[in-house]
Amino acid sequence: RQDLIDQAYDVMRHNDRGTYTVPTHGLYPFQWNWDSALSALGFAHFDESRAWTELETLFAHQWDDGMVPHIIFHKEDDGYFPGADVWRTGRPVPTSGITQPPVAGFAMRRIFDRSREKEAVIDRVRALLPKVHAWHRWFHASRDPQAAGLVAVIHPWETGRDNSVDWDDAFTRVPVEGVEPFQRRDTSHTDPAHRPTDEQYKRYVYLLQLFRGLGWDNSRLHDASPFQVVDPGFNAILIRSCADLAVLAQELGETDIARESRAFADRGIDAMESLWDEGLGQYACFDRIKDALVQSPSIGGLLAAFCAIPAGRAACIARRIEALAHSARFMVPSHDPLAPDYDGKRYWRGPVWLVVNYMIADGLHAAGQTEIARRIASDSLRLIEQSGFAEYYDPMTGEACGGGNFTWTAAMVIEFLK
Ligand code: DGY
Repeated sequence: RQDLIDQAYDVMRHNDRGTYTVPTHGLYPFQWNWDSALSALGFAHFDESRAWTELETLFAHQWDDGMVPHIIFHKEDDGYFPGADVWRTGRPVPTSGITQPPVAGFAMRRIFDRSREKEAVIDRVRALLPKVHAWHRWFHASRDPQAAGLVAVIHPWETGRDNSVDWDDAFTRVPVEGVEPFQRRDTSHTDPAHRPTDEQYKRYVYLLQLFRGLGWDNSRLHDASPFQVVDPGFNAILIRSCADLAVLAQELGETDIARESRAFADRGIDAMESLWDEGLGQYACFDRIKDALVQSPSIGGLLAAFCAIPAGRAACIARRIEALAHSARFMVPSHDPLAPDYDGKRYWRGPVWLVVNYMIADGLHAAGQTEIARRIASDSLRLIEQSGFAEYYDPMTGEACGGGNFTWTAAMVIEFLK
């Protein structure tokens, strides 16, 4: 046990660039938004100050409108596509132009709750609070123009679940004509059979070019995008972060932020019910352009348990995971192995990811579903013991997939074990 913690910390130190951490050497050579925030949880066990630095660096690159970009290109590195020269967002330190799951509010509260040196860090937390809140406000203003209570993503990269089956149908409406020629770099670092397809990459780049052509103006991007999907997992993360920020703000006497954050969370939880799919027995994505739920049994609908959904819904999610355990050895596959488009090695079309396991287990534990939460934690650790600190794992064989020596996988191991 201590041995695993030591190994995990070694992985994190190896990827530490001083004020930020790269997800893994080679494949992802910059700072990624949700990787950083979740990795801060791991750092906090050894060096709390370093954990706050990770978050501070991320928010130092927040845009004026409140968005926090998904990649910060701190240093040049031509081993990644699409690099800063493709995004061309015009930021002093180059960044991408889209965002990622807003886990920072959740991470902040968790790190501060456990802090053994609250007095020493309180000013830093106080300085971060309005920044995180501005990001949450940005989501509601820019990605929920009809005030439905839930936000849409306009690019699959925003969800982190880049090539989920969830996007397949919506992606047929994203054209590939006019996409500038490009050369992928990811497939030179890792097995192409574990990565998205070339066809998907063309559509990722189409959307990037479209948004770039609109000057990265967030007041226009949502309505202009042919891809507008409401993802239950993404929204659960936002709702959880708003709820956690409300508690933290209250503790620090920031009552306006507390009130507004609580209101965001309450509205979001009510609206989540519109994503419940009785047939699937879980939450589902909603395609705003098509005006319909997406019939896709993916982990996005299970990650909904990360926010305070009603107890009956949490019980249904626990039952769904119990059912998945009949067809896979390791929980929780990112797509139902019995569904036709399942692919156990290809990124988000089947493999197990420890960060999602951690968030689902956390939510189910809070909802009183402790047995299944324990099962998820123990499967996660079995994967590490068998295959090391990989990016993701085949849910049948436990084989390591994608990149190796992965920062957030290591951080989650520390969280599961501490
Ligand atoms: C990638 O390049 O694979 C990332 O997921 C995009 O952020």
